[in-house]
Amino acid sequence: MTREVDLSSSREGLLRNGAATLSRDSLDSYTSSSELDLDELEPHNGQTSPRPRGGWSPVRRKNNSKRKRQEHKQPPKASRKGGCLRNRACWVVSVILLGGLLVLVAGSRTFVYKKPQPMDGFSPPWYPSPKGGTFLNWTESYLKASTMVSSMSLMGKVNVTTGTGWASDLCVGNTAGAFEAEFPPLCLQDGPLGIRFTDHATAWPAGITVGATWNKDLMYRRGRGLGLEHRLKGVNIMLGPSMGPLGRMPGGGRNWEGFGPDPVLQGIAAAHTIRGIQEEGVIATAKHYIANEQEHLRQASESGLPYAISSNIDDRTLHELYLWPFADSIRAGVGSVMCSYNMVNSSYACSNSKLLNGILKDELGFQGFVQSDWLAQRSGVASALAGLDMSMPGDGLYWSDGQSLWGPRLTEAVLNGSVPIERINDMALRIVAVWYQLGQDNETLHPIPLEGDPRPNFSSWTKDRMGHLHESTDDDAMVVVNNFTDVQGQGENFHGRLAQQVAAEGTILVKNENNILPLSQSGGPELVKDRRRAKYNVGVFGEDAGANPEGPNACVDRGCNNFTLASGWGSGAVEFPFLIPPIEALESTFDLDQVQITRILTNKLPNNWPEVHGSQDLCVVFITSDAGEGFTSWNGITDRIDLHPQKGGDELVMQVATSCANTIVVIHAVGPVIVERWIDLPNIKAVVLANLPGEESGNALTDVLFGRVDASGRLPYTVGKSLADYGPGGKIMVKPNGLAPHQDFKEGLLIDYRHFDTNGITPRYEFGFGLSYTTFTFSDLQLKSLKPKSPLPSPRPNATVLPVTLPTQLPDPETAVFPAGFRKLRKYIYPYLDNSTIKTEPYYPYPKGYNTVQPPSPAGGGEGGNPSLYDEHVSVSVNVTNTGKRKGKQVVQVYVSFPSDVIDASTGKGITFPIRVLRAFEKVEINATETATVNVNLTRRDLSYWSVGRQNWVMPDGNFTIAVGASSRDLPLQGAW
Ligand code: BGC
Ligand code: BGC
Repeated sequence: MTREVDLSSSREGLLRNGAATLSRDSLDSYTSSSELDLDELEPHNGQTSPRPRGGWSPVRRKNNSKRKRQEHKQPPKASRKGGCLRNRACWVVSVILLGGLLVLVAGSRTFVYKKPQPMDGFSPPWYPSPKGGTFLNWTESYLKASTMVSSMSLMGKVNVTTGTGWASDLCVGNTAGAFEAEFPPLCLQDGPLGIRFTDHATAWPAGITVGATWNKDLMYRRGRGLGLEHRLKGVNIMLGPSMGPLGRMPGGGRNWEGFGPDPVLQGIAAAHTIRGIQEEGVIATAKHYIANEQEHLRQASESGLPYAISSNIDDRTLHELYLWPFADSIRAGVGSVMCSYNMVNSSYACSNSKLLNGILKDELGFQGFVQSDWLAQRSGVASALAGLDMSMPGDGLYWSDGQSLWGPRLTEAVLNGSVPIERINDMALRIVAVWYQLGQDNETLHPIPLEGDPRPNFSSWTKDRMGHLHESTDDDAMVVVNNFTDVQGQGENFHGRLAQQVAAEGTILVKNENNILPLSQSGGPELVKDRRRAKYNVGVFGEDAGANPEGPNACVDRGCNNFTLASGWGSGAVEFPFLIPPIEALESTFDLDQVQITRILTNKLPNNWPEVHGSQDLCVVFITSDAGEGFTSWNGITDRIDLHPQKGGDELVMQVATSCANTIVVIHAVGPVIVERWIDLPNIKAVVLANLPGEESGNALTDVLFGRVDASGRLPYTVGKSLADYGPGGKIMVKPNGLAPHQDFKEGLLIDYRHFDTNGITPRYEFGFGLSYTTFTFSDLQLKSLKPKSPLPSPRPNATVLPVTLPTQLPDPETAVFPAGFRKLRKYIYPYLDNSTIKTEPYYPYPKGYNTVQPPSPAGGGEGGNPSLYDEHVSVSVNVTNTGKRKGKQVVQVYVSFPSDVIDASTGKGITFPIRVLRAFEKVEINATETATVNVNLTRRDLSYWSVGRQNWVMPDGNFTIAVGASSRDLPLQGAW
């Protein structure tokens, strides 16, 4: 699909001439959803409304209070940025500026539209949307779903596929049930590191920290913990894990929500997380599909432009890099995929038929449902045809506008034939089938949390016990919405212990001169204290060591970098139930009879600080770098425009290191940080990258600093010496390069370490690197062929299961009209029409290419693609010996270099490869002096490239080099295959 089609096909609102009024409209809608109109609300006069959609009548308690301000609701952007819209002068200035902008834009528009770019070429049409239910392991769920959906009215199907509107119900996303079929409303809640907007739930280490553990078992167990907690709070669909952004740009504001910029590390971590979540019966969401690599310009409503940014990616790069973790997720059985805000190759990700119908549902065999990111849906009929199955949060083009692109518009579109009834049947089937597949019909696992009421047991919109069921509407009834269910586990099963373990293993030691670490509780270790003093003096420096006096949740959505940093910000952040600051853990670990701790928990030291504070035997300095989601910013940051420590971190480190001979630097950060200004100073003895540790921050850090656990984190990204080192593709596009900004992913496969390797750039610390407290050697590499080389996977297996068929006759439009006496809540999204007149003329023009029959992809035929792609071809085994004095953990990393001089048979063109790519890893714990044999297997996919000509994975002829070692640049063993 192309932008052309997106524009023309969306009769629901995104009309070509709608573009000019877009920002104006969006401002209006922001004002109307702000607290202004909350104050204007008439207190509602008594009668309780029926539960708006479906018959899940809530228990009503009181119905009195005037609506009060929500605690959590995201303030509308306009008011967040200073409330300009309430001020007349500001309006005038804005109008003038806007006028100027339009003139500029008009000029650039000509340029943009004239630019010779293949509008169709990158993203060809792919229709119709493949039906779900084509694999054996889903058969039972689809059969049950077909019974369920057969008994749904069209209204029910619309309810299941369309959200009820932002803040219309208790979760960040909600569908209404299908009453007639007894299908319940579903609760969708963020997110990747815990349950957003609630209490008594674990604030887990962030994805990037999990990536840094390289520990599959911990990835899985954290997933279980996430799943269990979401289930106990009554969440059906968890909005995570995040695997996109992958991390093309090291400063990408949301990279930290995922597991790092290598597709294999990202994919393995995502798949283990998903298995864990879903084993608890909660539907996981693989997000954001796809190429949502930066926050700047991600959404038209945030940038004020008429279009979101387009990530332009070639087919091979898409397959080998950005799509890879999604393939792993689908193979792991993920129930939902969230399409992203941005365009891909000029077509919105949520209405890009090639991406959704072609790649996700045909090639990758995705059996679950596609939900839109919040307002990433930009068209109605077009997105349904392109493969979107669920509209979230259900509103239309603007936040809380109550003008859904689906809802009643979908009802109408089905009734007038614009959306074939088979399509909405498939949409509903996919959602219901996933619900069965995850066992959500089991009432023991998914108990009804409050008496007789299937809603979740918390509200996203208030911290009080009493609140509104339908916050954004005019329903003022107050009921119990929070019952403060503690889901953190008890005693030995307290999830904090696991969170601590993950955070400790996700802590990376990159420098450790003279083995200054691990520390001993009495100081040292072999440091000689100043004998003139009775105690060993330790100075702890920097705001990041200390707790925020206003509490760890002082900034909404964690949208600031104040005091100790344990999470980035945005929808991927949670309310900390508690946060152990480093200083507290240091003070409780050091033996205070022998050690004197001086806390200087500020980033600005007086110039004569040693005189003021006394000289220290050991100094631990804490610095940070933070980032987050684009809907809010801190100090102008969403994405990081540079990779330097923030808040004067460099200066603090240098100042301390000038006078302190034993300086240890701890960095809490969302990703790589440039350390060049001080890393080689002789007084800087150790550097620890603690990433984003979550609630157990201090405890996990001291586990590593004092050696209670080995330092076993390894870098899930490259630490360069400058941002420029990452190449031109590593830079965030801050200023739009046109009305419809375009970002060409010209570097192709060469991001992060692949870029450094190919261009001969020496990083400060390479991908995969990290020190242990012990030492390891690798020996005896053995490569065994399990299957012979052959260029192509087996032919796509024939479908053994046919999708279920449902009745296709259209209901009488009369049944789609609001029932008599129905009390509508303001802004709530219903499926009903105001009257039964259905316009069928002019008939909806199906998008270009709608009738072209698409051959099934040869790369498809199983979940995650052709099953033969996952055949194991090479077994790699290696001995690892712990040559040090203590037990420790090593990550065995396996990198593949493809044969040289590869010519693609279908195109006759040469195929080039990155120097080496990570293809497998395993973390092992080994006792001192012992040896472990580690075995991993490489699959056909690991040893193939995506041939654009063949539209299939091809295993090239020639010699593969398989290298094994401790990082991407420390590969002592290699063999040929
Ligand atoms: C939502 C985001 C959204 C933002 C808009 C947040 O609270 O979770 O999805 O982008 O509000 O203001
Ligand atoms: C974010 C998603 C999130 C959703 C719901 C969006 O703004 O991009 O990651 O799940 O809001 O809060």
